[in-house]
Amino acid sequence: MNFITEAVVKAAKSLYQADLTPAEVNLQETRKEFEGQVTLVTFSLTKFSRKSPEQTGNDIGEFLKKEMKDIAGFNVIKGFLNISLSDSYWLDVFYSQVLADDFGAFKPNGKKVMVEYSSPNTNKPLHLGHVRNNLLGYSVATILQAAGYEVIKANLVNDRGIHICKSMLAWQKFGDGETPESSGIKGDHLVGKYYVLFDKEYKKQIDELKVLGQSEEEAKKNAPLIKEAQEMLLKWEAGDKEVIGLWKTMNSWVYAGFSETYKRLGVDFDQFYYESNTYLLGKDIIDEGLEKGVFFKKPDGSVWIDLTADGLDEKLVLRADGTSVYITQDLGTAQLKYDDFHMDESIYVVGNEQDYHFKVLFLILEKLGKSWAKGLYHLSYGMVDLPSGKMKSREGTVVDADDLIDEMEQTAKKRTEELGKVEGFSETEKLQLYHIIGMGALKYFLLKVDPKKRLLFDPNESVDFQGHTGPFIQYTHARIRSVLTKMSLSPLTGGPARLFPEERDLILLLSQFPETIDIAAKEHNPAAVANYVYEIAKAFNKFYHEHSILQAEDEATKQFRLLLSAASGKVIKKGMGLLGIEVPERM
Ligand code: ARG
Repeated sequence: MNFITEAVVKAAKSLYQADLTPAEVNLQETRKEFEGQVTLVTFSLTKFSRKSPEQTGNDIGEFLKKEMKDIAGFNVIKGFLNISLSDSYWLDVFYSQVLADDFGAFKPNGKKVMVEYSSPNTNKPLHLGHVRNNLLGYSVATILQAAGYEVIKANLVNDRGIHICKSMLAWQKFGDGETPESSGIKGDHLVGKYYVLFDKEYKKQIDELKVLGQSEEEAKKNAPLIKEAQEMLLKWEAGDKEVIGLWKTMNSWVYAGFSETYKRLGVDFDQFYYESNTYLLGKDIIDEGLEKGVFFKKPDGSVWIDLTADGLDEKLVLRADGTSVYITQDLGTAQLKYDDFHMDESIYVVGNEQDYHFKVLFLILEKLGKSWAKGLYHLSYGMVDLPSGKMKSREGTVVDADDLIDEMEQTAKKRTEELGKVEGFSETEKLQLYHIIGMGALKYFLLKVDPKKRLLFDPNESVDFQGHTGPFIQYTHARIRSVLTKMSLSPLTGGPARLFPEERDLILLLSQFPETIDIAAKEHNPAAVANYVYEIAKAFNKFYHEHSILQAEDEATKQFRLLLSAASGKVIKKGMGLLGIEVPERM
């Protein structure tokens, strides 16, 4: 809307002999309840006009209307000048911008960004929390790519440590050679089963020791199973052949399982990092920090950083026995990632229970003088609850990602059949549609909410074809496609003589697609895209309900409405694509 800004600058000069800078011109989108599309806020201009905000609005409105052919009218409400742009202006926006081949496409901006997401542990299957993580990470990466970034999608797999030794030990003791093939159990679930089993047996031993008079704490330390798991970890670190062999086998089961789940979720990665390769890395940085005086050593040999001056506390960065803690590894991995890609920005998609960890991590890297530390960003997200209550890990009551996907497909099937939306579909097409709708429902429900907010996932509500849901938008897309296959587009015949409000609203909304992508990328927020696409779907349905395409007043109007429908369909498809959601051609 630069041309309006310029015109307002001109108006102020001519009416009040004032020299405004463009930044002093405050334009907003007109609120729905008023007529107009662009609103000038006049309060701050009264110091130049020395008149009331209303009078100032009127002066400028008259000036604009006289001077500019694209301004069709105005109204003033207190300090707000609501400007209506002409039909020919909106038609020009539609034909020359929205219909252009490269509409919504950004040129490469020369910047590189890494998005680390998913980052699972290899001792159990993915759960509902991972689902939000994966969907967010994938969507943010896709949005950044659309906004012109070169994007590297990275997955840091936590494939070593005591947790995987627990699964391994339980399998060794109780597994009787069970494999995914022999049991028919998906690999990640099989390993998860032994992780749960370990915990169960471990608890038994703790209880036994408590009966013998040990405290909870003592019993936890002394239980034979945990001691064995710790020995196994030491053997792993020493490269023991047998332990490494078992570790490789069980991890390969997990990876086969993960990759199936990733495929169903529709997410992927360009780069994998494995903690088994990176867990020793941070130690160089510890030395660097000690040299630079950023860290200090305590008498027992442990290494710390004092962050009290930054409002945080003292934080351990290396244990007295020289072994790493979580942050040691992340320091090393951050350096490795940068050395590998030299990216301008690096995003970590990790739940908000790790807010403190990332605050400290980024602060340390800054204090170490890493030039790239300012490009680090923690995309922190809230927990997902189910109606039945909070998800818990370890207790075996977690909502499993695979089960959730199954359930979504089932719900999609039920709803779709009830509504008779699959007539004339083959069996394969039906399955495909249920997958698209089920996943669309799940993804949309999780992504329409600001990442920072905790959310309650209601599977049934998410598949409602009428609500603020993925399936409603998907259905709108299918409806548009069906309109377009029933009627043919002929070569341009010029636009209609006039625009109806529903048509103008739709053009205005469509024209906001590029800035929506830009905002979503800057804010790392897929919800901006999700809510935008919903507005388009609603506006299209309103337009379609109010105006006939087939019985349009004349051929030019009919062609215009078909093009408007096609453009709406395209933006819906592209926008949903930014969320990782497919849209059906028909249903
Ligand atoms: N694997 C970790 C977990 O499950 C998450 C890792 C997040 N990424 C990182 N660079 N720290 O809690």
